[in-house]
Amino acid sequence: MNIPNIIIAVDGYSSTGKSTFAKLIAKTYSFLYLDSGALYRAVTLFALENTLIHENAEIEVDALEQSLSSLDVHFEYVDGQSMTFIGDRCVETEIRTLKVSNYVSPIATVPQVRNFVDSKLHEFGKNGRIVMDGRDIGTTVFPNAELKLFMVAGNQIRAMRRYDEMVAKGQHPEFEEVMKNLKERDYIDSHRETSPLRQAEDAIILDNSYLTMENQMAWLEMVLKNKFDI
Ligand code: DC
Repeated sequence: MNIPNIIIAVDGYSSTGKSTFAKLIAKTYSFLYLDSGALYRAVTLFALENTLIHENAEIEVDALEQSLSSLDVHFEYVDGQSMTFIGDRCVETEIRTLKVSNYVSPIATVPQVRNFVDSKLHEFGKNGRIVMDGRDIGTTVFPNAELKLFMVAGNQIRAMRRYDEMVAKGQHPEFEEVMKNLKERDYIDSHRETSPLRQAEDAIILDNSYLTMENQMAWLEMVLKNKFDI
């Protein structure tokens, strides 16, 4: 199918399969994939390593803001996969640990951090033909995106997905801890002052609780055909 050079925003709650879906969309239709959550996670890792966030989640906002101007966070393709880098260090695995997950939502509430990530996303996505996943892509980062999807799935299913993902990476999480983290992030993400997680008015909801990847791609093809007359 020949899709025009549109921007596709894939927003939704944690562990609803946004990134898996967005990556497959990018591969199928030759789009550039941008993972906005990975940028928030990389900033969080940087803050943890430089004691700019404390154990009680208190953030050294001024020092963090100053560091951001020289923080080189970007994506590189390694074996065909988009990986997150800080300078020349690949941090893809470290940014997915429960420790980073526990601190990322507070970091993502800081307006200076959101401005930093938004400007990176605009820079990386300036040539269009991008599919981006996050929480506020369709509402704030690219409000003019031609196609906006909003993904949801049941809590138990989402926690199980995140748990399986971590086990597959050799981590040993407690299921209850994963569920707790998920609910806390849902709450913080949707209640923060700057760009809270919410469905854009013109977004289409996809509940993929019981859908396979094939089901979701078939659904998307139908949406694209209807919306763009292709
Ligand atoms: O998609 P993810 O779970 O990797 O995102 C990690 C965190 O980053 C998430 O809890 C909230 C934040 N985030 C955000 O605030 N806005 C985005 N566009 C993407 C992620």
